[in-house]
Amino acid sequence: MSKRGLGLFVSAIMLTMLALTGCGGGAKAPEESKAVESSAEQKSEEAKTEESKQAKEKIVVGYAQVGAESDWRTANTESFKSTFVPENGYELIFNDAQQKQENQIKAIRDFIQQEVDYIVLAPVVETGWDTVLQEAKDAGIPVILSDRMIKTSDDSLYTALVCGDFIKEGETAGHWLEDYIKLKGKNHDEKINIVTLQGTIGASAQVGRTDGFANILAKNSNWNMLAKQTGEFTQSKGQEVMESFLKQFDDIDVVVAENDNMAFGAIDAIKAAGKTCGPEGEITVISYDAVKAAFDAMIAGDLNASIECSPLHGPRVAEIIQKLEKGETVEKIQYVDESYFDTSMDLEKIKSERAY
Ligand code: AHR
Repeated sequence: MSKRGLGLFVSAIMLTMLALTGCGGGAKAPEESKAVESSAEQKSEEAKTEESKQAKEKIVVGYAQVGAESDWRTANTESFKSTFVPENGYELIFNDAQQKQENQIKAIRDFIQQEVDYIVLAPVVETGWDTVLQEAKDAGIPVILSDRMIKTSDDSLYTALVCGDFIKEGETAGHWLEDYIKLKGKNHDEKINIVTLQGTIGASAQVGRTDGFANILAKNSNWNMLAKQTGEFTQSKGQEVMESFLKQFDDIDVVVAENDNMAFGAIDAIKAAGKTCGPEGEITVISYDAVKAAFDAMIAGDLNASIECSPLHGPRVAEIIQKLEKGETVEKIQYVDESYFDTSMDLEKIKSERAY
């Protein structure tokens, strides 16, 4: 039972006891005793109302969301908003931090003040959370990390984490490129010039994808990382950075965009520069997320591959909360199973079966 619910439950029991026992001691005159009886009935009714109110009490969840920077993020917000609804027994307090950590910290402090039952945090960056999460812990509010991880020396500051395995995603992108180069029949020693559009620097999605891809790059001595720069996970910044890469380098073979939206921006920049991309073009484009628009870009022949990252964390977090409500233990770190998609697949069919 939630903290709020428990409070109401205790008051309901106290009201019932008061109603049953009456307030004062000693024998009563008959009229006085009738008045006491009817007042007891009334109080018992009040207790019942209070009890049923308590039964209807919602679990209050505060969600500190990163922002609205990408299609993925929109799908993630939708997943929470459609899961944490009154019909499912929840009240959701949603906060969009506009990609700023200070806004997320403020939102968490507001949630603590409002005495929410659970705090869900999608941390914009990995570091700098210890103080505010300690405040949540001191207030007895469990924190569930969703989508991204934090760096902390005290794991007790959060109850559970559900997200993609970002290092694995980066390695999947690297393995995909290895296979693709082989398939294209390129000479083993031929130099492959790569540029990377990174996500928000310091976000676990950026750190993991960059590191994971670097693990595979280290095994391919002919791969050459020309440049890495953040595109902040947005389409406009992705386009801007790609424009500048195209001005600096005239021999880019591969673009790794750390999300689909930056890849869409990069594709626009490539076309505007008079170059071509995709399976039939000069530049190979790989991205992450696999939102529906990425399937459209692959079907259009602009994007080569997208590494899946699931945004559908609403039901996963709800499952964790339900277990905690029952007093059950939950797995601390829960990685979501993810795959990848490329133009060799039946993309129309796969796209039609996907939720985002
Ligand atoms: O943390 C997940 C990443 O954040 C997604 O790849 C990106 O689109 C989002 O903004």
